[in-house]
Amino acid sequence: MKKDILILAVESSCDETAASVVKNGRIVLSNVIFSQIALHTQYGGVVPEIASRKHIEKINQVISEALQQAGVTLAEIDAVAVTYGPGLVGALLVGVATAKALAFAAKKPLIGVHHIEGHICANYITNPELEPPFICLVVSGGHTHLVRVAGYGKYEILGRTRDDAAGEAYDKVARAIGLGYPGGPKIDKLAKEGNPKAIPFPRAHVADAPYDFSFSGLKSAVLNYLNSCEMKGETVNPADVAASFQDAVVDVLVSRAIMAVKEFGMNRFAIAGGVASNSAIRSAFAERCGQEGIAFYRPEPVFCTDNAAMIGSAAYYEYQNGVRHGWDLNAIPNLKLGER
Ligand code: KG4
Ligand code: ZN
Repeated sequence: MKKDILILAVESSCDETAASVVKNGRIVLSNVIFSQIALHTQYGGVVPEIASRKHIEKINQVISEALQQAGVTLAEIDAVAVTYGPGLVGALLVGVATAKALAFAAKKPLIGVHHIEGHICANYITNPELEPPFICLVVSGGHTHLVRVAGYGKYEILGRTRDDAAGEAYDKVARAIGLGYPGGPKIDKLAKEGNPKAIPFPRAHVADAPYDFSFSGLKSAVLNYLNSCEMKGETVNPADVAASFQDAVVDVLVSRAIMAVKEFGMNRFAIAGGVASNSAIRSAFAERCGQEGIAFYRPEPVFCTDNAAMIGSAAYYEYQNGVRHGWDLNAIPNLKLGER
């Protein structure tokens, strides 16, 4: 019988301090997340220095809880995994230094994981039947990537955003209509009460790059709309703004992603990242994939936003591919997908 592989994974790239124990890349034995959102809300966004300090304060406790909840000791773990990029350098360093110290002390292999690879692999947790190849749309606060997952650990970036990430656009528009940080979940909720066709916001296409995205024009269009209403003394219906903005985002994401799935002759499509927990995006993709005969996969919402279980899943496949990092592993804030 094949031996089970247990991975202890650590994630600290932004404002979540997280640790998890994952068995064989797909079974989550524990998933501990300390969210710093409440701390950063008063500043309207993540303050890097505060994030780093809080990670230092919380990381040991979060790791202990993850081991305890999984009912395993460090000695029983096969490898220690950690996000080493992309992300905030100070935040990443806390996870990297802690994981290195633990792995060294416990004489375990160390595996550095790309944060986006983690987001993609969150799909393996929720969807046990999912295997590559498939197309994945990663939409988070920092990234909007359309990726061809050719195999485990094999990625080709087909397109990306030229400016703001989808989540960034959600957060900025939310701030403009007075919803606060993080805006994504708040717009998601408010949009349910609005008319998505009330305001015709633009759907941007990037010339000669059919799989690329651009959200800064949409964000500006929303801000201009709000300003012009104010100048004219017209009242703004925030629910209509939220719904119309979201409709534009959904349209652009669905059209580009489905085009890629078809052009690459795939029949499997997945979404990932914090914005993938958005209810309108999930239902729009479910509907369109249903019409096109494409199998649609998405992680459970708790595995969409930042967590360490997704890092444990990605690390398992890297481990099977023979990837091991040395004690010189460093945080790389702008790490590219596919780089080691
Ligand atoms: O993946 P994530 O936790 O962190 C990054 O790697 O960036 O994504 C966070 C982003 C934030 O911009 C947040 O507003 C957005 O995901 N988000 C949502 C929803 N939940 C989180 N956006 C739209 N709808 C949601 N329900
Ligand atoms: Zn993330």
